[in-house]
Amino acid sequence: MKVDLELEAMLRAPEVEQPSYPPKIITMANGKKMVVREAAREDVPVLLEAVRPTLRIPQDFYDIVGVRLYAELLGWYRYRVRNEYCLIGQVDGYLAGIVNGRMMGEDIGISLHTLAIDRGLRVGSHLFASKMEHHIEYLGQQEVWITAESPIGFRRWMIEYGLEKQTDVQHELGGATSYRLSKELYYETKPRLVVGDRPVPQEYLDVAMKEIKVADEATIREKIIGVK
Ligand SMILES: CC(C)(COP(=O)(O)OP(=O)(O)OC[C@H]1O[C@@H](n2cnc3c(N)ncnc32)[C@H](O)[C@@H]1OP(=O)(O)O)[C@@H](O)C(=O)NCCC(=O)NCCS
Repeated sequence: MKVDLELEAMLRAPEVEQPSYPPKIITMANGKKMVVREAAREDVPVLLEAVRPTLRIPQDFYDIVGVRLYAELLGWYRYRVRNEYCLIGQVDGYLAGIVNGRMMGEDIGISLHTLAIDRGLRVGSHLFASKMEHHIEYLGQQEVWITAESPIGFRRWMIEYGLEKQTDVQHELGGATSYRLSKELYYETKPRLVVGDRPVPQEYLDVAMKEIKVADEATIREKIIGVK
């Protein structure tokens, strides 16, 4: 693709340099280890491979979350979103789930999406907790704005964290009702909800960093809807 660099510079969303998220390892209920780490912009095409099958899974609102996540990741890849980041969970190198968000400003973080591919292990829950950890502890923000697009999401975030409903703002995800996780609430809930160990043992980190493996479409469908 031929790019007019002068015009491209005007089209690109401005960005600040963001502190990185230090990888961690979580032992899940089935004994498997999940490495949670930050994805790089260059990883986006592989991540899109994993998100694409969800566009055709209406169950549990995977389609709406998937299509929005797809657009956000592509927007990040094409430099059309400001200050986005993406964290991933990998088990034996395989992508188990994705979360993303962005800094709206220095103090306010926006939680975008959480998508679990491996289900029944609280992968999504652990990744959401990692996202909150990133905003408050590593990006140094004061609060995170969150919305839910599914009943499971509502149970997992609004109820489990006791998030505060905001009546004076709309969330950027289509103006949906926004809920707030303050820094204080994060530290109150952290002992119960944020888990994982650092540093990640080298052999696990090596596997995770070597390649983001993505299961084929039939396997992803089976993982998401098959067990129910
Ligand atoms: C919301 C989400 C991230 C939560 O992930 P999670 O914490 O790993 O939870 P799971 O999806 O595995 O399970 C959620 C519930 O559905 C049940 N469930 C549904 N399908 C299941 C399956 N195929 N296998 C096992 N359990 C399943 C689980 O038992 C669990 O019940 P619980 O709440 O009583 O524990 C995940 O469900 C998801 O990606 N949903 C689609 C996108 C979405 O809604 N994102 C959040 C809005 S932004």
